[in-house]
Amino acid sequence: MAKAKPKSKAGVKAPTSAVPPDLGTLEADILAEIERAADLAALDAVRVAALGKKGRVSALMRSISEVPPEERKAFGQAVNGLKARINAALEARKAALASAALEARLARERADITLPVRPGPLAEGRVHPVSQVMEEITEIFADMGFSIAEGPDIETDENNFTKLNIPPEHPARQEHDTFYFNARDGRDGARLVLRTHTSPVQIRTMESSEPPIRIIAPGRVYRCDSDQTHTPMFHQVEGLVIDTETHMGHLKWCLEAFAKAFFEVDTVKMRFRASHFPFTEPSMEVDIGYSKVGDALRIGEGDDWMEILGCGMVHPNVLRNVGYDPEVHQGFAFGVGIDRLAMLKYGMADLRAFFAADLRWLAHYGFPPLDVPSLARGLSS
Ligand code: PHE
Repeated sequence: MAKAKPKSKAGVKAPTSAVPPDLGTLEADILAEIERAADLAALDAVRVAALGKKGRVSALMRSISEVPPEERKAFGQAVNGLKARINAALEARKAALASAALEARLARERADITLPVRPGPLAEGRVHPVSQVMEEITEIFADMGFSIAEGPDIETDENNFTKLNIPPEHPARQEHDTFYFNARDGRDGARLVLRTHTSPVQIRTMESSEPPIRIIAPGRVYRCDSDQTHTPMFHQVEGLVIDTETHMGHLKWCLEAFAKAFFEVDTVKMRFRASHFPFTEPSMEVDIGYSKVGDALRIGEGDDWMEILGCGMVHPNVLRNVGYDPEVHQGFAFGVGIDRLAMLKYGMADLRAFFAADLRWLAHYGFPPLDVPSLARGLSS
């Protein structure tokens, strides 16, 4: 039994050149409905009524095969063109409605970024004083144009000692209470150690880059030593500056500027004491003046001295060991004890508490994680 065919298409005359009038009317109707659709749901209803299974345009598509052969091509082209234009209009309207919806949402939903952070894990956690002090030191030296260098905790004996002008049998090796690895752990016969200071990063940096050099290298160091002021693992920050005209004046200025910025004081009493390190010549230890006011320490003034770092001009042998010509390049190096600085600045008496992982201690001495130290806002406030 033949299905009743829609009547409309029977009346469609398909002239060879122009769109038949009722196709034009249909198109205008549908386009007008598309324009009137006020939201995505209304637009979809228009799409279904035109292009859905029972849609008006779909019915026209099906009727193409029933048009007499000589008119079929032109009629088919006209219907296909109509369908394409309706599809394009639907897409355009959909995009317009979507962006209007987004605009409305953006206007409606506003985030007040000046509100304080809600209480929660992010605000409750605390930054360890060692991490805080490392960030403060990094901020100060970055401001002076230093970049950050790194080296591994497990070092070769060569980098930790030999290239730093501490040959085998040198007495300085004994002073360092080194943790040695078994001889078989090293590659190609190189003996491995837990680095006893950050100075091997000097070697690594000079071997992998050309002067001028201006780096600091914060990190962990290890010595087989443990009491109230010594832990087997502690932290240092190494500094290294190499250029063609670097002298002790630069070293002194640099460390003084650092001490003032770090302790957040305008003047700081400092003492450069002659000392000895195999990798610097001359070598100095630096003390900071302080006084006790009740239980607190006043840093930078007073008649007591506290040692905070070792430093000196890089030894010509060290420069030669990394292939530099000491007649052309020289510079200075320093090594600061970070834990010591943290104790001084923030008034903690026992170094061992640093590594006891006691949450009560951390809650008391730790720093809010969202207060990133910056010179402009104040390092520790
Ligand atoms: N590496 C030395 C130490 O650990 C400190 C230091 C570094 C001294 C650089 C001079 C130059 O004691």
